[in-house]
Amino acid sequence: VSLRPYNTFGIAAQARFFSSFSNAMELEELLKAPQLKGLPHMILGGGSNVLFTRNYEGGLLKNEMKGISVTGEDDSSVYVKAGAGESWHGFVMDCIKHNRGGLENLSLIPGNVGASPMQNIGAYGVEIKDCFHELEAYHLQDHTVVKFNNADCQFGYRESVFKRQYKGRFAILSVTFRLSKSPKLNTSYGAIEEELKQMGVQEPTIQAISQAVINIRSSKLPDPAKIGNAGSFFKNPTVSAAKHNELKAAFPNIVAYPVAGGDFKLAAGWMIEQCGWKGFREGDAGVHARQALVLVNYADASGNDIYDLSQRVLDSVAEKFGVELEREVNII
Ligand code: FAD
Ligand code: EPU
Repeated sequence: VSLRPYNTFGIAAQARFFSSFSNAMELEELLKAPQLKGLPHMILGGGSNVLFTRNYEGGLLKNEMKGISVTGEDDSSVYVKAGAGESWHGFVMDCIKHNRGGLENLSLIPGNVGASPMQNIGAYGVEIKDCFHELEAYHLQDHTVVKFNNADCQFGYRESVFKRQYKGRFAILSVTFRLSKSPKLNTSYGAIEEELKQMGVQEPTIQAISQAVINIRSSKLPDPAKIGNAGSFFKNPTVSAAKHNELKAAFPNIVAYPVAGGDFKLAAGWMIEQCGWKGFREGDAGVHARQALVLVNYADASGNDIYDLSQRVLDSVAEKFGVELEREVNII
C-alpha cells in the first residue's frame, strides 16, 4: 500500500500490510491476523508527525475510532471523552461550540485525538496535560485495556511515557479531557494579544482566542494539503543559564525564554534562520520560507532527502551555537 495519502509529509513509502480499525475488537482481530504474524506493527493516526525514511516492513494499523461524549460533570468542569480517531481540530471546535474551555489555544493542530498524548501536543502557552484527565489504551501484547491518569503519562515538553518506556507497546483508544465551564483564558503568548488587538476584540472569549490562533498559524505554518510537512521538525532545546549567558554575549538577539529550574529554552527556528537555512531548497526538500523550524517536501522528496537535510541543519546549528538539536518528528 502506498503511504503517500497517510502522511502529511507526502512521502511515497510503502507498507507491507495496511488496515484500519474502528473499535478494540477489530484491533484485536487484526493483531491476530495470519498476514501479520511475526511482523512488527505500528499504530497510525493522521500521519502528521512521522517521516518514513524507508518502506515499512510490517503492519500499519490506522486508528479510526470515533465518538465524542460527556462522561461526567461537576460545578466547574465537564469531562469529555473522544475516540482516538477523531480529528484533533474537529474535537477542539466541538469543545468551543459547547463553550467548554481549555483547548482553544490548541486550535488547528493537525492529526488525531489519539496521538495528542504521545508528545503532549502544545502551542501558544498551553499543553494538553493542562486539561488531560485520563486515557484508555490497548496493550498490544497482553491484549488488555489499561487506563492512564495524568501522572501515569509522565507528560513533559513534547514528551510522554508513550514515547519512552512504553514506545510501541500501546494503542491509545480514547482520551478524556477535563474542560472548564468558566474558562480561564490564556493570552500569555505575545502573538495572541497582538492578533486579538488586530481583530478588534476587547473582551476575549474562547472563540476569539481560537480564531486568533488560527489566524497566526495560517500566516506562517505551511498547509500540509499544499506543501508536505510535519510541523516543527526539531524541538526547542533547553540550555543552562550559564550557556544562555554565553550565547547572549555572542548573539545579543538570540530568542530565549526562562523555564522552570533556572534553565532557558531557545527558539530553534531563530538559530536555524541565523545559519542561513530559511527558504533553502534543494530538489524537492526544503526549509519553509516563513518558519525555519519546519522542513518541507515540495513534491517528490524522499524521506531520506528530508532526513539528510535535517542532519545538515542540525550540524550547522551545533557548529555555530554549540547546541545539539533533537528531532521532534518520529523517524520511521
Ligand atoms: P501520527 O503522525 O499518525 O503519529 C505520531 C506518533 O504517534 C507515531 O509514533 C504513531 O505511531 C503514534 N500514534 C498515533 N496515534 C496513536 C494511537 N492512537 N495510539 C498509539 N500510538 C499512536 N504538534 C504540536 O505539539 N504543536 C503544534 O503546534 C503542532 N503544529 C503542527 C503544524 C503542522 C502544519 C503539522 C503538519 C504538524 C504539527 N504538529 C504540532 C505535529 C502533529 O500535528 C502532532 O504531533 C499530532 O498530535 C500528530 O497526530 P497524528 O494523529 O497525525 O499522529
Ligand atoms: N523565529 C525566527 N525565525 C524563524 C522561526 C521562528 O526568528 O524562522 C523566532 C520567532 O520570531 C519567535 C520565536 O522564534 O521569536 C518562536 O517562534 P514561533 O512562535 O513561531 O514558535 P516556535 O518556537 O518556532 C513552537 C512550537 C510549535 C507551536 C509554536 C506556538 C516547538 C518545537 N514548536 O514553535 O509547535 O505551534 O511554538 O506555540 O516547540 C510543532 O510542534 O510541530 C509545532 C508547530
